Amino acid sequence: MGRLSGRTAAITGAASGIGRAAARLFASEGASMIIADRAPEVNDTADAIRDAGGKAVALIGDAGDEAFVKSLVDRAVSEFGSLDVFWANAGISGGFTPLHEQTTDYWTEVLRVNLIGPFLAVKHASAVMIPKGKGSIICTASVAGIRSGAGGPAYSASKAGVISLVKTACNELYGTGVRINAIAPGLIETGMTKPIFDGARARGNEDRIGQLNPTTRYGVPEEIANAALFLASDDASYVNGQTIAVDGGLSSSHPVVRRKK
Ligand SMILES: NC(=O)c1ccc[n+]([C@@H]2O[C@H](COP(=O)([O-])OP(=O)(O)OC[C@H]3O[C@@H](n4cnc5c(N)ncnc54)[C@H](O)[C@@H]3O)[C@@H](O)[C@H]2O)c1
Repeated sequence: MGRLSGRTAAITGAASGIGRAAARLFASEGASMIIADRAPEVNDTADAIRDAGGKAVALIGDAGDEAFVKSLVDRAVSEFGSLDVFWANAGISGGFTPLHEQTTDYWTEVLRVNLIGPFLAVKHASAVMIPKGKGSIICTASVAGIRSGAGGPAYSASKAGVISLVKTACNELYGTGVRINAIAPGLIETGMTKPIFDGARARGNEDRIGQLNPTTRYGVPEEIANAALFLASDDASYVNGQTIAVDGGLSSSHPVVRRKK
């Protein structure tokens, strides 16, 4: 028996990085998967799950679009009979546009995908979970939502919004049996952070990546997926309204000058 046997789980942003790793992990733990992304490579994730003996339906669309998010929830119910877990994971960094060149359209798009997307997941996933008295919703925040230094202003504000959303939504869902939590990843090697890793490697500085955190390395998508599996499963039955930083300890400290031991 896997930790998600008999459950149905939806994950957005599953064509790449953290979402792809989690889709494969959740399926290997017995979940029937509804996976979504705006990139067609989400079909490759579904193929990999099916090749490994799991169940997956891939849908291509925009995780910040209400009709699409509702269609994911509806498809989970029509295809597999329930929706037990929804991870609103899709996100965009917004790139490195300097603040004085940022437009309201730019801010609107970052907030739409990174914050309104999770709101839509909470709205529509909880609607089918509440009648069953059970469910787990997970949202991807970031250490950028905790303090400055890990993303631009719009990205960081969107992730701070996610941290707030899980607190308020948790209380809106008072007494329903539906839990909602967030994960705040630190620096993880994925499609989103490829420019950082490519740049460091090109400069011969790969060994310096991740040295700001006390674990002294960067993370890999599977380490975020493991935390999400915990939150999705009954192992986290008393964890609600929280943001769990999975960042090698990065967010535990103000910046300090390190001394070699
Ligand atoms: N990689 C990191 O260091 C890091 C750190 C903190 C938080 N995060 C967060 O983790 C989440 C996953 O990102 P990742 O690092 O795996 O990056 P990634 O780029 O590898 O994966 C993100 C996926 O989301 C998809 N996506 C983006 N906008 C979408 C939309 N509107 N609709 C549907 N799909 C969309 C992309 O196509 C991509 O497949 C994001 O929310 C990101 O902000 C990442």
